[in-house]
Amino acid sequence: MGSVAVCPGSFDPVTLGHLDIVTRGAKVFDRVIVSVLNNRSKNPLFSIDERVALLKETTAHLPNVEVDSFDGLLIEYVKNKQANAIIKGLRAVSDFEYELQMASINRKLDEDIETFFMMTNNQYSYLSSSIVKELAKYQASVTDLVPAQVETALLEKFK
Ligand code: PNS
Repeated sequence: MGSVAVCPGSFDPVTLGHLDIVTRGAKVFDRVIVSVLNNRSKNPLFSIDERVALLKETTAHLPNVEVDSFDGLLIEYVKNKQANAIIKGLRAVSDFEYELQMASINRKLDEDIETFFMMTNNQYSYLSSSIVKELAKYQASVTDLVPAQVETALLEKFK
C-alpha cells in the first residue's frame, strides 16, 4: 500500500491557497483525497455538491488527487479510506493554536495517523474562503485569489 493522505476542509469555496497545498501534497504522497466536511451547522454559501464539483474541476489535472466528502469525525473517515496521513496548510501563527489542538486530538484518537503541516505559500498567507466571500459579496475582484471556475460561481451567487 502506498502513502495516502486526506486533505480535509470546508472548501467554501476552494481558493488558490487550498490548491497550492493540494498540489504540493500530491508531490509527496502517492494519493491525496481532498475531502469536504459536510457541516450542516456552518451555513455554507456553496452546497456540498457545489463544493465537491468545484474541487473536482480544479484538481482534474492532478492524476493522484481525488475529491470526496465526509460527515462526522475526520479520524474515522481517514481510517475508512485506509489513509495514513492528514495534510493541513498553516498560514500564520493565528492558525497554530487551533491546528495544534486538532492534531493532538486526532493523535489521541488514533496514534497511527500522522498530521502533516505545510506552510502556505507567502502569496496566500492572508487568504481564506471567508475573505474571498466577503470580497465577492461587495463585487470586489477575486481573480488572483481563486480559480476561474470559482470566480464564475461566486459571481453567480452574488448576482
Ligand atoms: O476548512 P476548515 O473549516 O478549517 O476545516 C476544518 C476541518 C474540516 C478539518 C475540521 O473541522 C474537522 O476535521 N472536522 C471533522 C470533525 C472532527 O474530526 N473534529 C476533530 C475532533 S473533535
